[in-house]
Amino acid sequence: MKLRTILQLAFVFIALLAMGLSAFIAFSGGRNMAEQLVAATVILSLASFAGLATSRHITHPLADLARSIEDFGAGDLSQRANSSSANEICDLARSFNRMADTLATKIAERQQVEEHLHLSRTQFRDLSAHLQRIREEERARIARDIHDDLGQCLTTLKLDLALLYQDTPEHAAVVRQKVREMLQLVDGTINSVRRIITELRPRLLDDLGLTAAIEWQTADFQKRTGIPVSLSVYPREIILDRDRSTVLFRVLQEALLNVVRHAAATAVSVSLTDIDGKVEFEVRDNGRGITKEESGHCTSFGLLGIRERAESLRGAASISGTPGEGTVLTITFPTTDEEAHA
Ligand SMILES: Nc1ncnc2c1ncn2[C@@H]1O[C@H](COP(=O)(O)OP(=O)(O)O)[C@@H](O)[C@H]1O
Ligand SMILES: [Mg+2]
Repeated sequence: MKLRTILQLAFVFIALLAMGLSAFIAFSGGRNMAEQLVAATVILSLASFAGLATSRHITHPLADLARSIEDFGAGDLSQRANSSSANEICDLARSFNRMADTLATKIAERQQVEEHLHLSRTQFRDLSAHLQRIREEERARIARDIHDDLGQCLTTLKLDLALLYQDTPEHAAVVRQKVREMLQLVDGTINSVRRIITELRPRLLDDLGLTAAIEWQTADFQKRTGIPVSLSVYPREIILDRDRSTVLFRVLQEALLNVVRHAAATAVSVSLTDIDGKVEFEVRDNGRGITKEESGHCTSFGLLGIRERAESLRGAASISGTPGEGTVLTITFPTTDEEAHA
C-alpha cells in the first residue's frame, strides 16, 4: 500500500472517530455511566488500532531501513533492508539494497586486487632478496677464484722477475730497466687485483666481522676522498648473521659512494647500534641535501636497492635531506629472524 494512501486512511479513520465521538457525546446524554465507558473503550481501541496500523506500515519499515543503513555503514556488508511490501519506504529499501549490492561487489573486487598486490609485493621482495643472496655468493666465488688463480700467478711472476733482475748482469742496463718496469707493473696489478677482490667481497667481513669491516671501509673512504668520517658503533662488537652483515656493508658502500658523487659534503658521520633486538644504521652528511623528488624517483636504483635490502630483512629505510644542511640515510631491521617474527 502506498504511504500516501495509508496516511489518507489514517486521517479519514481519525476524522470518523472524532465524528463518532461527538455524536456519541450528544446522543448519550441520558445513558448511564457504564454504557458511556464501554463506548469510550471501543472508540479508544479503534484509535489504538489506527496507531498500530500506522506504526506497522510506516514506523517499523523506517526503523528497519535506518538500522540496515547504520549496520552497513559500520562494516556489515551483508546487511540488507526488508523490502517485502509495496509503499515508498520499501522502494527506498530496494534502492538501498541495490546500492549495497553494488558497493559490496566493488569492495570485494578491491579487496581481491589489494590481496593480489600484497602477494606480488611479497613475491617481489622475496625474489629480490634471493637474487641479492645469489649475487653475493657469486661475488664471493669470483673473489676466491681471482685470489687463488690470478693472485697465485702474479705472485709467482713477481718472484721470477725479481730473480731475473738479480741474475741480469750490471752492464745489461736496458734489460735491467725493463725488468724493473715489469716488476712495478706486476706490483700495480697485484694492488688492483687486491682492490677488485675486496670490492667484490671484503674478506674482513667474513674473517673479522662487521665492526672491523665498517671501520676499514670508512677509513678507506676517508683516505681516498679526504672527507673525514666519524664512526660510532654501539655495542662495540655487533654480531649479525651473514645476510644482515652483508646488507649493512653494501648499504654503507652505496651511501658513501653517493656522498662522493652527489653530496659535495665536507664531513660524514656513520652510526650503528644494536639495541633491544633492533639494528639502527645511519649515514649522515653535511652536503647539499637530497630533494624529495630525487629520493622518491623511480630511477633512483641505488636508493631503491637500499630500500629493497632493508625490506628483505623485514626492516625499513628512509632517506631525507635539508637544503644546504645535508642528507640522512637510516635503515632499521630486527637483529634476528626470531625478532622479525615476534
Ligand atoms: N647524499 C646525497 N646527497 C645529495 N643527493 C643525493 C645523495 N644521495 C643520493 N642523492 C641524489 O639521489 C639520486 C639517486 O641516488 P641513487 O639512487 O643512489 O642513484 P645514482 O647514485 O645512481 O644517481 C642521485 O642521483 C642524487 O641526485
Ligand atoms: Mg647511488
